[in-house]
Amino acid sequence: MGEKLTLSVIKADVGGYVGHSSVHPKLLEKAGECLGESKFLVDYHVTHVGDDINLIMTHRKGVDNAEVHQLAWDTFLACTEAAKELKLYGAGQDLLSDAFSGNIKGMGPGVAEMEFEERGSEPVIVFMADKTEPGAWNYPLYKMFADPFNTIGLVIDPNMHEGFIFEVHDLIENKKVKFSLPEELYDLLVFIGAPGRFCIKSVYKRDGTIAATSSTEKLNFLAGQYVGKDDPVCIVRCQSGLPAVGEVLEPFANPHLVSGWMRGSHSGPLMPVSFENSNPTRFDGPPRVIAAGFQIANGKLIGPQDFFADVAYDGARQKANKIANYMRSLGPFEPHRLSLDEMEYTTLPIVLKRLQDRFVPIEEDEAAAAKDEE
Ligand code: F6R
Ligand code: MG
Ligand code: MG
Repeated sequence: MGEKLTLSVIKADVGGYVGHSSVHPKLLEKAGECLGESKFLVDYHVTHVGDDINLIMTHRKGVDNAEVHQLAWDTFLACTEAAKELKLYGAGQDLLSDAFSGNIKGMGPGVAEMEFEERGSEPVIVFMADKTEPGAWNYPLYKMFADPFNTIGLVIDPNMHEGFIFEVHDLIENKKVKFSLPEELYDLLVFIGAPGRFCIKSVYKRDGTIAATSSTEKLNFLAGQYVGKDDPVCIVRCQSGLPAVGEVLEPFANPHLVSGWMRGSHSGPLMPVSFENSNPTRFDGPPRVIAAGFQIANGKLIGPQDFFADVAYDGARQKANKIANYMRSLGPFEPHRLSLDEMEYTTLPIVLKRLQDRFVPIEEDEAAAAKDEE
């Protein structure tokens, strides 16, 4: 048995160019320089989706490693300095604390990490999304690992036929639970159909082998106030008893509605786009997802392959644009605007306070009106 490899994807928004739309090339350059100085990374790749910098790193130190997290933190700090010099928008916005305490989780950046034994051939896809929240992965992960209409391997590949284990996190109660599929499929759906609260953290084969993992940090829960959207990442291993690359990409052909978009307070379609087209524009969106494919060879990241650049996703983009038109036509009305408890911004308490004296109990009002009529 070989030495295990860890794939860590750590992301943060430390300054937008222009507004919240993209990352300035100088920040990506700076991030590359910082990771390049590391003595322990086997390999790394720096990229961005919209205004988020993604550090994709391989190493032998395992998940939740203090040195790896410190490296990511220091890299984001260095990028913040570069962002401040250029007066980029919201410089340092995702770094919630000044003092790093050994684990980057809970400090603002999003983290998805998995440790595994590198297979004879190791195809992986790193999904990265902007202007949305961690629950955005629930629908595609469910389709990839549990829906035979998406993944024919569940039906006809003897190595997949037994199904997968889903680990779900309750982000409000801070609890986790595992479901075995297909037999607990209906139970799973009760929870993951509510992606604002329950998120699929990881998927495993029945023997415990990790198949997929996502970032589940909710920035607004961490900071206790609006500080930006979570803009999650997700790693999926493919092939040989796991969903094929095409089965992993397939759910994104039907752009599902996710929470996020303008001011983190709207519902809109998740549009699959090429790396080049990953910068949200219209109404700060629509929310976007990119898919970077890598073959891992002795820890080296061979790639990336820009999967959603393919013309086969043109139809999904057109559909997403149509849905975006319809949702925008609803303006400030739900379900385009999120429900009150899900919005990142709200003026409700301020307006309520200003109007508090004008609110009277409905019954009293009716009684007063009846008296006036007498
Ligand atoms: C959503 C997002 C943007 C901003 C919007 C307002 O996640 O990042 O839609 O919420 O551009 O930004 P501020 O309040 O910084 O002017
Ligand atoms: Mg931003
Ligand atoms: Mg973002």
